[in-house]
Amino acid sequence: MTAIPLFGLVAGIHQVTPGVVAMSMYEGFFARFYSTTVGYQRADVDWFSRHVGESFSDVLDLCGGSGRLARGIVLPGSSALVVDTAPDMLAQAPLDESRKIEFLRADVFQLSLGRGFDLVVCGGLALPMFSSRQRVELLRVATSHLRPGGRVLFDYLPLGEGEVEVTHHMVLPVLDGSPGFILAGVQRDPAAKVQRTNLLAEFDRDGGRTVRLVTGHELAVISDGEMTNELDAAGLTALHQHDHLPVPGGSPLAWPLRFVSAAKKEDLSEGPPPCGRRGRSGP
Ligand SMILES: C[S@@+](CC[C@H](N)C(=O)[O-])C[C@H]1O[C@@H](n2cnc3c(N)ncnc32)[C@H](O)[C@@H]1O
Repeated sequence: MTAIPLFGLVAGIHQVTPGVVAMSMYEGFFARFYSTTVGYQRADVDWFSRHVGESFSDVLDLCGGSGRLARGIVLPGSSALVVDTAPDMLAQAPLDESRKIEFLRADVFQLSLGRGFDLVVCGGLALPMFSSRQRVELLRVATSHLRPGGRVLFDYLPLGEGEVEVTHHMVLPVLDGSPGFILAGVQRDPAAKVQRTNLLAEFDRDGGRTVRLVTGHELAVISDGEMTNELDAAGLTALHQHDHLPVPGGSPLAWPLRFVSAAKKEDLSEGPPPCGRRGRSGP
């Protein structure tokens, strides 16, 4: 596992507290925590559902974790394939026999399925986990798995104008009901164009033993120019985008998200086709 970028209160507590176990955000306790908290999000699912093209029958969900997005988008009679490397994330998928969703443990950078999909999704801020070079590579994987007329749907953290560095923390309950807490921190560093997240969990196990776990990651904050260049290098053009802004007075850890629908450049030589499922379209 790459080093966890610790900052602020979590770094301070980690420094003075022995026995804190560092782990990936997509493993064990944190995989369950991530899937439960992100599972409440609807904004991305709702926007993606409105921008999936005229009709579709199958979805490829890259870095799909528990399949949250695929489950939200797929229509009755359609199917989805969710690809992720983390067994603990794939294991969070609820049993849902009403939909045709398959799961594949694989590295998206090695993916070559030899078939096309109507929709390729890479959401939940999966793309910003990677460097610019890797993002182009991942978008190329998406393009190479797209049928003519298909769509790529993804999200990222857009760089705002005149942003200054800020760090926020908040305390959350441990979701499985154990006595304890999670200290969550987000550090936005616009100069380095990154947003770091830290989670420090402390809770009691049966028998009174205290467990202390820490995780964190660094996501890219991406400028408009960079995103345009990366899409272009992957053979894609953005058709629609939408900025989802945090609710005023809501979580201090939330930042604007940008949702994007893109198509293969070669599909657009005669102008962009109309978008929107079943005649619906939106901002
Ligand atoms: C930020 S989570 C997003 C999960 C899901 N898309 C969602 O919206 O809930 C990122 C996911 O990418 C997966 N991942 C990271 N690197 C990967 C790779 N090289 N290939 C496949 N999955 C990867 C992680 O295991 C994790 O489940």
